[in-house]
Amino acid sequence: MNINYNDLDVMIDEDQIQEKIAELAHKISIDFHNEEVYFLCVLKGGLIFCSDLMRAIKLPLEVGFVSVSSYGDKTVSSGEVIYKSPIPEEIKGKNIIVVEDIVDSGTTLRALLTKIRDEYSPRALKVASLLFKPSRNIHPIDIHYLGFKIEDKFVVGYGLDYAQKYRNVPFIGVLKKY
Ligand code: IMP
Ligand code: MG
Repeated sequence: MNINYNDLDVMIDEDQIQEKIAELAHKISIDFHNEEVYFLCVLKGGLIFCSDLMRAIKLPLEVGFVSVSSYGDKTVSSGEVIYKSPIPEEIKGKNIIVVEDIVDSGTTLRALLTKIRDEYSPRALKVASLLFKPSRNIHPIDIHYLGFKIEDKFVVGYGLDYAQKYRNVPFIGVLKKY
């Protein structure tokens, strides 16, 4: 069974993504020159962005993973998140760059950043996110390394899913039926 992309409109193509990644990698390499960085990849969505971005960076770099999901704003107002896998202890005291696919309401990242700041005494704490939806944002987050601001459409591909599918699509697309 082959997949086709007929149900998607391309929003950001592969070349645009790679161009932006080169830009962000350059910025990170300048900001942290002569230092080591720790990429904390937020699974599952951050997987593809993280793997491309880290390969474009010419610094000593470690990578680790945390699997987080948000309760959803409608059911829980506390902004809590569920940790499906914990924050790795090894991040303590390091120059941490949290790598996310998208900042939407900001609930997930706000909770994660607060926990890291409170419990892991980072030397530096920065955020890299491929996408940001300003119109849906509730918790303002400083995104130090941002790929693209997008309008309020549900997007998939390049790590982002719809019901766990489409993560392997190589571009950012909009579901036509959504
Ligand atoms: P937030 O906590 O509301 O900022 O939402 C963050 C998470 O919701 C992201 O890490 C994504 O996993 C998911 N998400 C938000 N918008 C989209 C979208 O347009 N497509 C796919 N996933 C999304
Ligand atoms: Mg995510």
